[in-house]
Order: sequence, then C-alpha cells, then structure tokens
Amino acid sequence: MTPEIRRSLVQHSRLRQDPHAVLRRLLDRVPPGLRLDEPAKQLEQRIADLLGKPAALFFPTGTMAQQTAMRVHAERTGRRTFAAHPQCHLVIWEDEGYSAVHGLRHLAVGDREDLITLDDLAGVREPIAALLLELPQREIGGLLPAWDDLVAQTKWARDGGAAAHMDGARLWEAQTYYDRPFAEIADLFDTVYVSLYKGLEGVRGAVLAGDQATIDAASVWRRRLGGATPDSWPAAVTALMGLDEVLPRMAEFRDHAVAVAAAINADGYATTRPRVPQTPLFHVHIPAPKDAVAAAAKRILAESGVELPQRPKSSPDPTRCSIELTIGVVSLDFTPQEVADLIRRLR
Ligand SMILES: Cc1ncc(COP(=O)(O)O)c(C=O)c1O
Repeated sequence: MTPEIRRSLVQHSRLRQDPHAVLRRLLDRVPPGLRLDEPAKQLEQRIADLLGKPAALFFPTGTMAQQTAMRVHAERTGRRTFAAHPQCHLVIWEDEGYSAVHGLRHLAVGDREDLITLDDLAGVREPIAALLLELPQREIGGLLPAWDDLVAQTKWARDGGAAAHMDGARLWEAQTYYDRPFAEIADLFDTVYVSLYKGLEGVRGAVLAGDQATIDAASVWRRRLGGATPDSWPAAVTALMGLDEVLPRMAEFRDHAVAVAAAINADGYATTRPRVPQTPLFHVHIPAPKDAVAAAAKRILAESGVELPQRPKSSPDPTRCSIELTIGVVSLDFTPQEVADLIRRLR
C-alpha cells in the first residue's frame, strides 16, 4: 500500500495534484457558460503581455513546445543543429524526440556540471539554428548565469544568425534573482517557453511565446504533433489562478529556500548547491549512497507521512548522491531546522 502523504518537500507531490482539491478550486473560478477555448486564449494573451512578446501559444507539454520551437528555428535558418547544455531537458528526459521526431541534432556545449560560458560558445565551429538556454539550469542545482553573461550569450547566438531560445520552465522562479521585469529578460530571446505546472502550480501545460511569424509556424507544428487542443480549459484556468495567486509569492519561496539551505549547510551533514539558492529550487549533496538515501526517504514517508524526493540522483562518487528540493506552497510550512534534521536522517 502507498503510504499516506501528510506533508511534502516534493514539488509535484500528490498533495497538490489531488484531483478533488484541484476541482474544488476550479469550481470557484469557472463561471457557468464559460466557452471551452476562452481560458487558453486569455492565458496566451496574458503571458504574451507579461513577456513582452507579440504572440503566445498554449501547448499540452513543454516537451512539445520546445521541440516545436527547435523545429521552427531549424526550418527558418535551414540548419539542423541546436546548441544546448549537456544536461538540458531535451537531452536527458525526452527520449531524443528532437532527433527521432524532427531529425534535429543536439550540439552539447560546456561542462555537464557547470553553466555554459561565452568561451564555450566561442568554441562552436558550425552554424546552429538556435542556442537553447535553460533558466535556471535544473540538473546542476538551479544555477543561473549572471545577467551580463546572459546578455552576451544571447547576443552571440543572434549575431551568428541563430535564434536564442529560453527553456523557461522555471522562469517564474528565476525572475527574482535578476530582479528585472519578465519582459526585459524575455527580450534577450527570440522564443520563450514557460511551464504552467511547476512554480505556477497549474495541472499541466506550457506556453511558447515569440514573434507572430514564429508562433504561426509553431501552431502548424502543434497541430501536426497532435497538440491543438482548444478545450484545454482546466490547464489554462489553473495556470491563470497561478499567475494571480502564486506568481507574486516567488520571492517568499526563494527567501525560504535560502533559509533552508543555510540550515542544511550549518548542520554540517550535507551541503547545498548552490550554497545560497538563486531560485526556490536547489540541490542537496548527501554523503551517502543513492540506494541508502532512497531507502531512508521511503522509511521517513512510511513512519511520519513526510515526503522527501524518493529517487536521488547518482554521483560519479558512488558513496554520494543528491536530491532536488523546491520550496513552494506545499513545502513552505517546514522550518529550516526541520528540513536540516530530515536531511540528516538520509543515510
Ligand atoms: C527544465 C525543463 N524543461 C522542460 C520541461 C518539460 O516540461 P513538460 O513536463 O511540460 O513536458 C521540464 C519538465 O520537468 C523541465 O524541468
């Protein structure tokens, strides 16, 4: 039997994905007679405005949105290669869809455990369709490039005739670090994908924003790929709620993440990456093997109903592993010391 989750430090916990709870919230927000396509249209307009882009398009998943973006940039430039971090989402979580479905090629730039640098880009010796930058770079602890690096790297791409594309799955969470309006960050990029169900806490979905011609081309690919679903109102309504209710709280989540990381580092058992989180997402590096940490997390859940990440990431050193923590609505009530004490039990 699956143990009951009473509290959680996992962003996608069943606690917040419980259909009954989601439906209750939706009921208050959906007026009788609402047109099926209205919420997605409203959402597209709202995100286009927020990001300062002429157009935006709803997609059922970020996976589809980004493969579409890469395809459209490839067709516009006549180049099949996109450059991105070795651990970007398209490479490690999408079964090589960019290649299997679209015949595109990923050029890995930079160190797999670090951020891409301008020097790494200077080493690119072939024409590329797009440079894809993931903000923040999730697999290395949610690190963000400094603003000047971001400006220089996106300029490098555009100067070379390539598109600059943002994997902004967590742009909502990253913005407080830059402390600049969303539109100023998005202006560095030709296309921006944002997620509706991570920081925003919607049920699913993604939006791709860009200029009108790019979004028109993307809408053709969305139909071809089976993603033209005009009745996606549950995803759109929960995302609109997220923009109203959760987006204004991102600084609060980040500040709590900073306090939690400080407690973990002060405790001395594990360390966080980065030491001071730049977003509500960060990694905890634990001096214990992956299987032992997974077993301890299972035990803690069974004994106390507290959910910690159940699948630690392996490390090149088999005596160590790491987990990803994200502070959001469900995890805000854990005190920093409480989290440090839980982490200490992962051994
Ligand atoms: C950085 C990043 N990019 C893209 C995606 C893809 O989003 P989706 O699950 O909507 O396909 C994710 C999902 O976890 C992600 O973390």
